[in-house]
Amino acid sequence: MNSSGFYRKKDNELYVQDICVSKLAKKYGTPLFIYDCSQIRQRYETYLNTISEVNGKIHYAVKANDSLSILKYFAKLGSGADIVSIGELKKCILAGIEPKKIIFSGVGKYEYEIEEALKQNILQFNIESKEELYDIHKICLKLKLNANICLRVNPNIAPSTHKKISTGDKGTKFGIDYENVKSIYKKLHNLDYINPVGLAVHIGSQIFDFNYFHEAYQSLKNLADDLIKIGYKVPSLDLGGGIGVSYKRDKKIDFLSYKKIISNLFKDTNYELSFEPGRSLIAEAGILVTKVIRNKKTKAKNFVIIDAAMNNLIRPTLYDAYHQVEPAIENDRSFVLADIVGPICETGDYLALNRKIKKVNKDELLIIRATGAYSSVMSSNYNSRPDAKEVIIYNNKDYLIKYSQTIEDLILKDKLINFD
Ligand code: LLP
Repeated sequence: MNSSGFYRKKDNELYVQDICVSKLAKKYGTPLFIYDCSQIRQRYETYLNTISEVNGKIHYAVKANDSLSILKYFAKLGSGADIVSIGELKKCILAGIEPKKIIFSGVGKYEYEIEEALKQNILQFNIESKEELYDIHKICLKLKLNANICLRVNPNIAPSTHKKISTGDKGTKFGIDYENVKSIYKKLHNLDYINPVGLAVHIGSQIFDFNYFHEAYQSLKNLADDLIKIGYKVPSLDLGGGIGVSYKRDKKIDFLSYKKIISNLFKDTNYELSFEPGRSLIAEAGILVTKVIRNKKTKAKNFVIIDAAMNNLIRPTLYDAYHQVEPAIENDRSFVLADIVGPICETGDYLALNRKIKKVNKDELLIIRATGAYSSVMSSNYNSRPDAKEVIIYNNKDYLIKYSQTIEDLILKDKLINFD
């Protein structure tokens, strides 16, 4: 078995483990997401090794891909979870991730979500404001249940990444202003049912310049050290996620540098460290397979029109994100410059713009790479389009892990009323 990702054999076909991708497309139809367990495991183990010197724990960021079977696989690997809604909590529990390994993040937890999470006795709430603290406290008093509270700090650091996924600077809705953290942390100690457990930081996603992490972790540590000096306990620090992956596949994640930063800062400390990676564990372990509906040529451009669209993968139009696109069968042929677009009726419906790709014909299969994270989870039914099926490859066998909706499923959600 070749388990080194999605790879080509001599027949020019793309394979995952020993399974031919175009056979899967034939069996399940397109558009189709395919995930590979062996790649998820490999990335999980590499991440865990990177943080092993400081005894770090992984809490997979469920928002990256919340398929139940994928969560179950993370549970099998031993991962905890970072969640942002009660829906994600329920999925984690169903998939076998124990509540005592679950961190509840997010700026807008509803009261009913807080109640449910308290009843499930989750590991901790990462809270983002004084107001949220008082809401949680009220619910704790009502239910007579304890909450472990960690304060998410806004360190006022703007990493270089897309502005829509940058969360560490003052202008964003995330975290508590750095200068207010100490006073709120002290307040935690005066409230019944509230256990202060530490501080958290997450400055954004798709970050390559690790100096930003260094700066953020250093300022978190300074705060924690100061609090300890004046007599408070700060048992744990949550360092978030955010490591970028190379969608152009021209560089590998520099885990060694990351390890150095973490080890230098934390090796000789007593903090329990948690990490919340999403993208770096799963983005590259997934592909989206799509079929060419037809080619179209205008005076200005070539278009390859495919059966996947922005409702399946919104990243290119939402974040100007790049995803590699290539034919499932890579034989010799000429190249063409084209926009690769879906059938949705707006100009923003594209998967790639001005892309040099091998000429493809009607009904041929294309592969869109690195769509394991923030892809199917962000899908919609825009233009009354059902979502895509999802398949996972485990021990050289394919398993359907998500049905696609039928048009009838979509229609069932609507209620027809009489206008008599
Ligand atoms: N922890 C927190 C509190 C987060 O908000 C996030 C991601 C993560 C961890 C995981 O970050 P990662 O390791 O995946 O970078 N939809 C966007 C990405 C949004 C990320 C949101 N927060 C995209 O497609 O690029």
